[in-house]
Amino acid sequence: MESRIIEITSAAHKYGNLNLRSCGKGFFPADAFGASSVTKGTGKPITLQVEGLKDVIKTDIPTDNKTNKPRWIFRNRSWVKQFIEIHEIAPGQKITINRVQKRTYEIIPHNGNGEINPKQIEPDKTKQKTYVNESAKSQKISTKILDINYERTCGCKPNHINCLPAKEWLKCQLGVWQFNYESRDIRDKNIHPATFPISLPRKLIELFSHQGELILDPFAGSGTTLIAAQDCGRNAVGFDLLSKYVKLMGRRLKDNANLFSDAKQIAVCEDAINIHKYLPQESVKLIFTSPPYANLLNRKRKNKSRRNRNNEQLGKIEQYSQDPRDLGTMSLENYTTAMGDILESLLPLLKPKGHCVINVPDMWWENKRITIHVSLIQELRKHGYELRNIIIWDRTNIVNQIGIFGWPSNYITMGVTFEYLLDFWRPPEQ
Ligand SMILES: C[S@@+](CC[C@H](N)C(=O)[O-])C[C@H]1O[C@@H](n2cnc3c(N)ncnc32)[C@H](O)[C@@H]1O
Repeated sequence: MESRIIEITSAAHKYGNLNLRSCGKGFFPADAFGASSVTKGTGKPITLQVEGLKDVIKTDIPTDNKTNKPRWIFRNRSWVKQFIEIHEIAPGQKITINRVQKRTYEIIPHNGNGEINPKQIEPDKTKQKTYVNESAKSQKISTKILDINYERTCGCKPNHINCLPAKEWLKCQLGVWQFNYESRDIRDKNIHPATFPISLPRKLIELFSHQGELILDPFAGSGTTLIAAQDCGRNAVGFDLLSKYVKLMGRRLKDNANLFSDAKQIAVCEDAINIHKYLPQESVKLIFTSPPYANLLNRKRKNKSRRNRNNEQLGKIEQYSQDPRDLGTMSLENYTTAMGDILESLLPLLKPKGHCVINVPDMWWENKRITIHVSLIQELRKHGYELRNIIIWDRTNIVNQIGIFGWPSNYITMGVTFEYLLDFWRPPEQ
């Protein structure tokens, strides 16, 4: 196998221009060199298998209009920036081009020994596990960008944002939503302390995506969003820091297999800050998640809102872990910054006009209202998201046995009776 090592320049970062001069003419088939512009004629394409990209690239190499000499860049180079970004390649670092067949080339990051640098694609091998549900058949360790489809499989018109008929759309226009639990929902806090009903992500998935499109839940917990995606024939990926929850997602997906759809649902054990390494840009149609609520649950439960306080949750800490990367261990300030950083890294993955819906309540702390929803709106606006709607999730139909609170001196609305669904989108390109 013939190989060439080339240096990444700032022109590669800015314009996708990989400087192929050092490869030499003999490294490429003579007919792979085309005219200066597509209208004047392209060369016979060569195939590039680019590490980390799902699809192969077909391209030729243009020549100069006047001199007829090669311009030493690939004509199709829109993928280069993505490749550089996925593998975090700085200007001055090198990449390897291997000629694996007569017209096929492999492009990989170079670590000095001619080997792939595995750090680039597997940030923490000990922690990272992937459970793939392809009709719940396989389990595998992820090594690169996830193999998952993200294009529509329905026949809807291009300008429609979902597959819903007008009647269903009408129902969604109400600003207050209610949901019921069903038998598949997890309500045992020992299994997961903070789940929502499957019907909640289902409504959002049906409202903001088409069949076959890709749904992302960066804090997937027990995988409720993935189950709803499975029901609706959507591809979906859920990430969680804790492997026990990723295993739980794998089990739930397997039990819920949808035999009528080819869509895939994948659960990955990973810190949400690394998600951008797993998915191509502009592949996600909807992000929906219920993140941790800073460290506000990282304390013993007093059950103040319950009529019967003395239940088995009394004195328990409803916290996922004490891992410092767990957003549930952070002060509100650090949490807000961490959420901003994570959501900023996810924005390029969203399709323009793709929605990002975040489910949060506000909380009370030492008789002060902690307005998590305000902090998140401000933070996400800073990072390029545009707020579209605030929907109230009315939970009065699913909470029971509320105790009297604050009477007769201190009026407080009960946090358990409603939560916010903050609906942002990635603004359309101007
Ligand atoms: C509110 S729960 C999500 C519950 C989910 N909606 C369900 O129905 O099961 C938040 C999840 O975020 C996870 N988490 C916390 N910090 C994280 C991080 N940095 N990266 C990924 N997941 C994280 C926790 O382990 C927890 O399972």
